[in-house]
Amino acid sequence: MEFTSKRYDFRNKDSDYASLAEELSGLLTDEPDPIANAANTSALLFDALPDINWAGFYFLRPTGRKAANGVDPGELVVGPFQGKPACVRIPLGKGVCGTAAANRKTLVVRDVHEFPGHIACDAASQSEIVVPLLAGERLLGVLDIDSPSVGRFDAADRRGIERLAALFVQASDWES
Ligand code: SME
Repeated sequence: MEFTSKRYDFRNKDSDYASLAEELSGLLTDEPDPIANAANTSALLFDALPDINWAGFYFLRPTGRKAANGVDPGELVVGPFQGKPACVRIPLGKGVCGTAAANRKTLVVRDVHEFPGHIACDAASQSEIVVPLLAGERLLGVLDIDSPSVGRFDAADRRGIERLAALFVQASDWES
């Protein structure tokens, strides 16, 4: 498989992420549907980012079961993505995605084999970044990107991908 971006070399990551943010804003303009926007966002990321093998979304959905406190905690359910088929449901607090969601903080994992409880969907994945999607206080889900290289994501990737995730959240209507 070819993992090299055809359009950006990311030698200057901040500048290329800024260009990618403009592309994404264009794609999302005047479209409030979260599924349509998630589909196009994952397609753009998968096409533009070098050295990745999975890019997509998990959304917070009800489990249908109440916890001891009488509240349904919700769980992550896979949404639009690019890459190999992935596990469908991830409990909050489990794996890289569930941990980032539960803590509401971006997780950059240098080597997924060193992350306790990592959920292996594609054996090729070696490193991962998961950005929680938040509308104010409300957790909507996560944006997850996997790489076949150890240590693929640095602080500039984190800045750039968090900005792209924020554009996706802002453009979409979360009320329906
Ligand atoms: N590795 C993730 C699971 C999702 S896949 O990478 C697409 C995790 O540990 O949460």
